[in-house]
Amino acid sequence: MLVSAKEMIQAAYAGHYAIGAFNTNNLEWTKAILQAAEEMRAPVIVQVSEGAGKYMAGFKNVADIVKNVMEFQKTSVPVALHLDHGTYAGCKACIEAGFSSIMFDGSSLPFDENIEKTKELVAICNEKGMSIEAEVGSIGGEEDGVVGLGECADPEECKTIADLGITMLAAGIGNIHGKYPEGWPGLRFDVLDAIKAKVGTMPLVLHGGSGIPDAMVQDAIRRGVSKINVNTECQLAFAEKTRAYIEAGKDIQGKGYDPRKLLAPGAQGIVDMVKYKIEVFGCAGKA
Ligand code: 13P
Repeated sequence: MLVSAKEMIQAAYAGHYAIGAFNTNNLEWTKAILQAAEEMRAPVIVQVSEGAGKYMAGFKNVADIVKNVMEFQKTSVPVALHLDHGTYAGCKACIEAGFSSIMFDGSSLPFDENIEKTKELVAICNEKGMSIEAEVGSIGGEEDGVVGLGECADPEECKTIADLGITMLAAGIGNIHGKYPEGWPGLRFDVLDAIKAKVGTMPLVLHGGSGIPDAMVQDAIRRGVSKINVNTECQLAFAEKTRAYIEAGKDIQGKGYDPRKLLAPGAQGIVDMVKYKIEVFGCAGKA
């Protein structure tokens, strides 16, 4: 059964660790994320972007796949199914499709409109027992064709949004999606601390969790980050293992072309990466 992310996030905040939120892209990803979380006894958030939701033939299919894999793999750790960077319409569609958590990304809207739409979605999520993440200040890098400017969030605006009754808040602190460029100066802990001082006990979300040095991630957790999003590093792990398999000519040996064989090393690469991140985030054994 899917659960709201509220309880696991609040426990992480109180326990000074973070929940890993891993983006799924297809069946292999979903199986791998759930297997890794189960092996690590870690609560987990499986999340999907709107683009990946479309790729997976719709949000209803995503919800069905996640629930069916959980049943088949006998998943016993808490799992939340979350929409990543949702539009207003996408949020409504995921609520309808049976997700247990949504992110409304109103960061590109005028601030007043971000507030109004967040408020409306908070009311719906409260009624349905779902968790909701909101965003202030767009997060840099490119994701699903959306390019953010990577600005740091304004702490005052963070407080206004945090006070709307959301479960967790994503705020830009110099983090970006995708690979970090050469010479990236690192997370802005001064901004993180200023936001934290304004929002009190509101759990914070770190997007662009791929490629940030482990010690920096752990410092962010100590300063109030309770959910960390990871997508790119799982994609890179999958691609690297799949490339090695093909470059070794294994797909042309025997029945090495069978997708169950061809995709197996990549899938194992995702399992290993998710387990590694869960360890770094300190949430192993917290289920
Ligand atoms: P990365 O792809 O950089 O890990 O970011 C994932 C993310 O923040 C999804 O919202």
